[in-house]
Amino acid sequence: MSILKQWYDAIQEARSVEKIEEIRISVFGKKGVLAAEFARMKEAPDEEKAKIAQELNIHKNALMNELAARKIVLQTLELQEKMRAEAIDVTMFGASSQAGALHPVMQTMDRIVEYFSSMNFAVKTGTMVEDDFNNFEALNLPKYHPARDMQDTFYFKDEMLLRTHTSPVQIRTMMSSKPPIRMIAPGAVFRRDYDITHTPMFHQVEGLLVDKEGKVSFANLKFILEDFLKYMFGDVQVRFRPSFFPFTEPSAEVDISCVFCHGEGCRVCSKTGWLEVLGCGIVDPNVFAAVKYENVSGYAFGLGVERFAMLIHQIGDLRSLFEGDIKLLEQFR
Ligand code: PHE
Repeated sequence: MSILKQWYDAIQEARSVEKIEEIRISVFGKKGVLAAEFARMKEAPDEEKAKIAQELNIHKNALMNELAARKIVLQTLELQEKMRAEAIDVTMFGASSQAGALHPVMQTMDRIVEYFSSMNFAVKTGTMVEDDFNNFEALNLPKYHPARDMQDTFYFKDEMLLRTHTSPVQIRTMMSSKPPIRMIAPGAVFRRDYDITHTPMFHQVEGLLVDKEGKVSFANLKFILEDFLKYMFGDVQVRFRPSFFPFTEPSAEVDISCVFCHGEGCRVCSKTGWLEVLGCGIVDPNVFAAVKYENVSGYAFGLGVERFAMLIHQIGDLRSLFEGDIKLLEQFR
């Protein structure tokens, strides 16, 4: 009988429903200890058999009850553990996601727009797919004009193209509204170019101011651009250099003193101490003729936003602005 005693302990020590099932088989199974004890009973002297059978039955019932009770306890514990493990803690903090930010080019564009908005320039947009008239013809760039080579153009069929500059927005604005005009046009432009200072898509901000004849002078243009460049780059020197654009006459390119070497001369400014940052001029009469404006005067300017972003943030390779490199972009949050 003592052989059965140990199973009471085994039941109490069982830590899983699975273990209880193992014990049940060991005790009550066909080859279990109880079956063995009943078999052994047959060899006992007849007068003892009844007593042994009685005792075995008591143990049998007792063990059965113990097993059932322990099984219920373990089932309950296992269910609780499962629920605990699978529970979702709605009060727990989630893994924080990374905050995004505007791309440095867009941040720079916003700052440029902010300046001109504060000076009462309206913000205009045109279309990226343009026609020959708006992108070239009306800007005093007739077909076969050699200056068209200045801008390596992506052409579609039927005289359609990807705009090579934001100047066509000048034309669109003048064609659809009367003077006076005071506008800027920020947006993407496209040229067939690719090296450390050129990408096939980049951004420009165009400016156009038109008023009565004799009212707009180069001095007005010079004043606003100087003020603007100081707003963008801080305390820099600004100089105007005579240049050529078909749509302005006279024309100028504008330089600022090098933001890297402060005019001493370095690799970025090619030892000149100056950095070219925009093009501008007095609107050519042929442009006004193309949009049928009479007795007006005006100035226009255009600048590359990526170039501004590179100079402001001292970025060496323009292409890195378009690689989507998180390490670079994270710095502009
Ligand atoms: N459209 C010229 C360019 O892309 C820039 C410019 C605009 C120059 C307006 C003068 C006046 O190079």
